[in-house]
Amino acid sequence: MHEERTQVAIIGAGPAGMLLAHLLHGEGVDSVVVETRSEDYVASRIRAGILEQSTVDLLRDVGLGGRLEREGDEHRGIYLQWHDAGHSERHHLDFVDLTGRSVWVYGQTEVQKDLVAAAQERGQVVHYEVADTALHDLETDRPSVTFTTADGTATRLVADVVVGCDGSFGPSRAAVPDPRTWERTYPYSWLGILADVAPSTDELIYAWHPDGFALHSMRSSSVSRFYLQVPNDTSLDDWSDDRIWDGLAARFALDGWTLATGPITDRSVLPMRSYVQTPMRSTEGGGRLFLAGDAAHIVPPTGAKGLNLAVADVALLAPALVAWLRKDDASLADAYADTAVRRVWRCTHFSWWMTTMLHASGDPFEEQLQLSQLRWVTSSEAGATGLAENYAGLPIGL
Ligand code: FAD
Ligand code: PHB
Repeated sequence: MHEERTQVAIIGAGPAGMLLAHLLHGEGVDSVVVETRSEDYVASRIRAGILEQSTVDLLRDVGLGGRLEREGDEHRGIYLQWHDAGHSERHHLDFVDLTGRSVWVYGQTEVQKDLVAAAQERGQVVHYEVADTALHDLETDRPSVTFTTADGTATRLVADVVVGCDGSFGPSRAAVPDPRTWERTYPYSWLGILADVAPSTDELIYAWHPDGFALHSMRSSSVSRFYLQVPNDTSLDDWSDDRIWDGLAARFALDGWTLATGPITDRSVLPMRSYVQTPMRSTEGGGRLFLAGDAAHIVPPTGAKGLNLAVADVALLAPALVAWLRKDDASLADAYADTAVRRVWRCTHFSWWMTTMLHASGDPFEEQLQLSQLRWVTSSEAGATGLAENYAGLPIGL
């Protein structure tokens, strides 16, 4: 078997894995990344669209802010809309006025491209299209990851530390002994589309409607992203382009406002799930396996937190590994699991709260509670500030 040696073996080349490799390199720690998919596949997966303030600050601080500054779009806040008794209302929440913090529209595809470009520039080793990834000897000082490379070479990557950044389907989370898990599946999904049409709004619209939730997001001045609440197990075959546009127009309807339509270039159905697994570090042996990003937690996308939470995890983990591996100071590594999970639960609660506030459940009692809550967060400064503080994001470390 071919053997490689590195300080940190990173499983998964999504945003968590690639950003971790970038941060470690900046502090003189080597890593090797292994990934089952191809580089193109990972970079073109259409996922998150909103970066919170602390994510943007971090990307800028570590030299990844150039294209984000030029091509990203800073937003002061969001619109919340609801439809009650034949009448719709749309209200703007200004996060900058409320909290001094903003958010940026910059797709995960773009973040990933920036991470890949930086990795290529520094000669980062990333093994794409590997098979049979497995973790070994996690209780020892020489943990390793085995895999078969794209050209069929059986390889063992020996490291000081292994970090599972392999998302919700990777093998790392199952390698943490005695985990505790919490899970919630929601009785609805999102049908997401990307369309070649200029956004019909300057900032995102989150709309509650008796037919179901709808979200108007965007990727650029000529590309819009939309989501519609649909039942679980919805088939895309049942949703013609006309049905999608009619559904969106009905849910976003507002006097004096029209929805522009255009060619749909991508469509998919996304299930909604909350999931938390602790501890985010193996307690076995010397504790040399860590989890970061979706490998440890999943949130429903209503709060736009998934990608931001992955970034926050590795922003905590990178300095912890640097102190441990370069200065033999394990204090931050020992604190990582507890520090990271506090933010995870804050984001898990916020994402659950936004989800349950905005999705139609068909229960008339719940509907009235949702409408009351929407009126409160758009009319009370205290209510609005709570939403704004969570959406625009807390500083990393809090
Ligand atoms: P991932 O991006 O999932 O990366 C994990 C990587 O590990 C993947 O590239 C995977 O191929 C790799 N991997 C898996 N198994 C192995 C293995 N055995 N060996 C090697 N590599 C492996 N968040 C939002 O905020 N808004 C959204 O609109 C939104 N939409 C989403 C849509 C979908 C379909 C999904 C799945 C997620 C969405 N998210 C969204 C969440 C957000 O994209 C994730 O939170 C974010 O990608 C997490 O980054 P990550 O690096 O932790 O995990
Ligand atoms: C997106 O643009 O894909 C997006 C934006 C906000 C969300 C979820 C998804 O809450």
